[in-house]
Amino acid sequence: MRLIHLSDLHFGALSPGLEAPLAARLRTLSPDLIVVSGDLTQRARRAEFAAARAFLADLGAEVIAVPGNHDIPLRNPLARIFWPWRAYDRGWSPVHEPLWQNDQVVVAGVNTADPWAWKRGRITGHQLDRLAEVFAGAGPRARIVAMHHPLEHQPDEAQWLMKGATAALRRLPQIGAQIVLSGHIHLSHAGPFSAAPGLIFVQAGTGLSHRRRAEANAFNLLDLSGNKVAVQTILADEAGGFGTMGPRQEFALHARP
Ligand SMILES: [Fe+2]
Ligand SMILES: [Fe+2]
Repeated sequence: MRLIHLSDLHFGALSPGLEAPLAARLRTLSPDLIVVSGDLTQRARRAEFAAARAFLADLGAEVIAVPGNHDIPLRNPLARIFWPWRAYDRGWSPVHEPLWQNDQVVVAGVNTADPWAWKRGRITGHQLDRLAEVFAGAGPRARIVAMHHPLEHQPDEAQWLMKGATAALRRLPQIGAQIVLSGHIHLSHAGPFSAAPGLIFVQAGTGLSHRRRAEANAFNLLDLSGNKVAVQTILADEAGGFGTMGPRQEFALHARP
């Protein structure tokens, strides 16, 4: 089972010339599923969603996505408060918490974008209740959660942690989650959560945007087999392709407690 984890494409704020190389690289990897952990667009504009949709539809794989804060209007306060999801619903999907499953995995999306906590995001107990229900029926399959805002920051990260993150990180291992895919920070990372070592945290950098931090444009490749997952970050290279391979890290997936 091969999964591609893309994030923070930010259509409307793209690095020039990367769309075709990224699409070509993704096609050669033949994933079973592509998960996009939010920020499809820069300003939640109709044309940006249309471009994101066209790009993702052309990759030859099934795609699911969750919203990021940039997929809600920011600069139009009226729209942000009264119809925050109109552009997303029309331009991408009215389903904000998609569920994808086959005989090996269950991937559950959680919408952490919140018009009242635009940058910081929020995860609620109600959303965790839903995940508990979903994973209760997962049997022996791998259980993956996708959300835009990360549940934990690296020690040098200055941004505020998402509202509800600490409680969510306590509860997710109890309900059987094994891997959490996030974005938002525009830096790649893979490893156990320090506050929940039985849960694997995979963060993707920005796939296409020029809003980079100290890292090239990137995405993650996850290969699942048995009770193991191998995670590898693939980055844009000097030649304009996605040929830089990060280390392949293997993690054991903990059984349901
Ligand atoms: Fe972003
Ligand atoms: Fe974001």
